[in-house]
Amino acid sequence: MEGYKHTGPVNCNLEFDPSSLKGKTAIVTGGANGIGEAYVRALVAVGVTVCVGDLDVAKGKKLEAEIPGIKFIQCDITKWDDQVRLFREAASFSPTGKIAYVVANAGIIRQDDVFLNSGENQGPAKPDLSTIDVNIKGTLYTVKLSLHYFVKQNGETPSSMQEDTCLVLIGSGAAFLDCPRIPQYSATKWAMRGIMHSLRRTAFYYGSRVNVISPWYVKTNILSEEDFAHVTEMGVQLAEAEDAGQCLLRILSDTSINGHSFFITARKWSAQGYMDLDLDDYLGNDLLLEIQEDQVKSAPVSMGLFV
Ligand SMILES: NC(=O)c1ccc[n+]([C@@H]2O[C@H](COP(=O)([O-])OP(=O)(O)OC[C@H]3O[C@@H](n4cnc5c(N)ncnc54)[C@H](O)[C@@H]3O)[C@@H](O)[C@H]2O)c1
Repeated sequence: MEGYKHTGPVNCNLEFDPSSLKGKTAIVTGGANGIGEAYVRALVAVGVTVCVGDLDVAKGKKLEAEIPGIKFIQCDITKWDDQVRLFREAASFSPTGKIAYVVANAGIIRQDDVFLNSGENQGPAKPDLSTIDVNIKGTLYTVKLSLHYFVKQNGETPSSMQEDTCLVLIGSGAAFLDCPRIPQYSATKWAMRGIMHSLRRTAFYYGSRVNVISPWYVKTNILSEEDFAHVTEMGVQLAEAEDAGQCLLRILSDTSINGHSFFITARKWSAQGYMDLDLDDYLGNDLLLEIQEDQVKSAPVSMGLFV
């Protein structure tokens, strides 16, 4: 595997062969419901052992009882000790003792205090930033632990002996579109692309990759029935959770895919329900490309080993 290079968008119309995933182990945070559950089902269907870390014990246990090959581990991603236990238990549940793939999917959206006005004649109230705690802080814990395990398994020197590993971060339309009234959620989802942009340059040292999946509206529990009714009343077509599952398999099946952002689309925008946005480079902008090159060359060595 080599350092990051922009190679153009991934062709998402291609048939792909997920057989290389068989026997690997994955962790999916927030995998007990919604799109996370679809990632879990897609992975299990191609022979991946899956550990689900989720707050929802009732649903997690139900899934564990229903689907052979998965283990549910109760976990609040905002708690470091919970995530340490999630990764430790996943490694011991893994038939190989290794963790190949991590899908950092757990996320929330709430009414945003940063946006809401405190009311006439009221001083500004300190905003609730718990969306940041879950979506960024919790995900950074997942990222930290993923890197720890990937480096432990593969070392830090690129070699053909390294086994492919991949971290998948979950963005949203809010990671690249203007989404009114939710500055905090938007910040957390743009942040997923920021994390990816930083790590895609160094992942090859430990034989790894990092990509982002950004779903369009998918009907889950993340928003209320009323919110989804409004979306469809506006004539807006939803995307499908199963297409997110296939997008994940497409990414994991092709070890050359590193540093890309995929969009889970309404089917009217792409026949298979997902596409490579090809948003994450500045092709055609020579000035930005030159600045980017200088940035990578000059990245401060004091920040760590992988320069
Ligand atoms: N559904 C959509 O329209 C949509 C659109 C764009 C992005 N997304 C993103 O996709 C991801 C999954 O969303 P979803 O729609 O499936 O939501 P969901 O609410 O249906 O499922 C989220 C899961 O995460 C779990 N979870 C929440 N907080 C947690 C925590 N602190 N620790 C551990 N688990 C936790 C929940 O228990 C639940 O099982 C999120 O990151 C979300 O931002 C969803």
